[in-house]
Amino acid sequence: MKTDEIILAIETSCDETAAAVVKGGTELLSNVVATQMEIHQKFGGVVPEIASRHHIEQITLVIEQALEEASVTMDDVDAIAVTEGPGLVGALLIGVNAAKSIAYAHDKPLIGVHHIAGHIYANRLEQEFQFPLLSLVVSGGHTELIYMRDHGGYEVIGETRDDAAGEAYDKVAKALKLPYPGGPVIDQLAQKGEDVYDFPRAWLEKGSYDFSFSGLKTSVINKLNQLKQKGEDVRVEDLAASFQASVIDVLVKKTYQAASDLGVNQLIVAGGVSANKGLREALKHQFEDTNVKLMIPPLYLCTDNAAMIGAAASIEFQKGNFKNLNLNANPGLMLG
Ligand code: KG4
Ligand code: ZN
Repeated sequence: MKTDEIILAIETSCDETAAAVVKGGTELLSNVVATQMEIHQKFGGVVPEIASRHHIEQITLVIEQALEEASVTMDDVDAIAVTEGPGLVGALLIGVNAAKSIAYAHDKPLIGVHHIAGHIYANRLEQEFQFPLLSLVVSGGHTELIYMRDHGGYEVIGETRDDAAGEAYDKVAKALKLPYPGGPVIDQLAQKGEDVYDFPRAWLEKGSYDFSFSGLKTSVINKLNQLKQKGEDVRVEDLAASFQASVIDVLVKKTYQAASDLGVNQLIVAGGVSANKGLREALKHQFEDTNVKLMIPPLYLCTDNAAMIGAAASIEFQKGNFKNLNLNANPGLMLG
């Protein structure tokens, strides 16, 4: 199997219509993302029906632009990759159908990619993996610790039992009447505030690598209501800083514990919440004097994009792991 294969990758699992061209799993030739963020902002969150409609409008344009920016034609492309799940079913379907149509029309192999595998592999566009490794995936839909012994082998050792970290950010932001998505806004406010409220940390039972964020979200909302009822000033910066401190404390300490227990060589951080300034700094601090090499993607690779799908697909290409035209969107797809 050739190792410098060119993959055209498509990602439409949520509110970004994205296409990218990736060479050999590590070289990014183009990366086009049409975001719908502003459209969904009006509704305070992603409206699935509207997301699907915008994906339909954008998908062909985005794919054409990705090929053009990469200066390749379909003749140069070795395979088509697409996010098959998890995500919004209507949104996923647009990408899956586009990928299947192109694969059929141009007689190219088709690769189905798990969205979280994509987030992890975004890092390989920057630096080579060193196994065994641990990945902390923190996004709007996922909070997971994944152990990897080799390429394409994913063992989920911990996950959230309720809200994902990004989801907690978005819900707390909504309660504080801040715009969607809440993560970046709370992150900025938190830099100006202080952890004065000392919100609970959900450590769960001893030895567990699982997470829980819904109790914290409720604590923030209760505190906000209390302050309002007493007629006290609500310092939104302090609420943001206190909430963020609790999230980061649990994420960093549990990740550190898992990395130590498993003796990994590398920690890879992935997903939209890895853009968080406070989290990035806390992880750097926690891991600086250890043998574990920390890898945090540049901001443009943290949130949803198709480059990460192309990078993850390269591993499946090498293994000859192709799909036929029965490939379907799978909103509940499991990893590993
Ligand atoms: O990975 P992503 O783009 O989409 C999903 O697969 O979910 O992640 C989006 C999530 C949102 O919940 C958003 O609020 C959060 O990532 N996010 C952040 C930051 N930037 C984005 N959360 C905390 N701090 C940030 N700076
Ligand atoms: Zn994502």
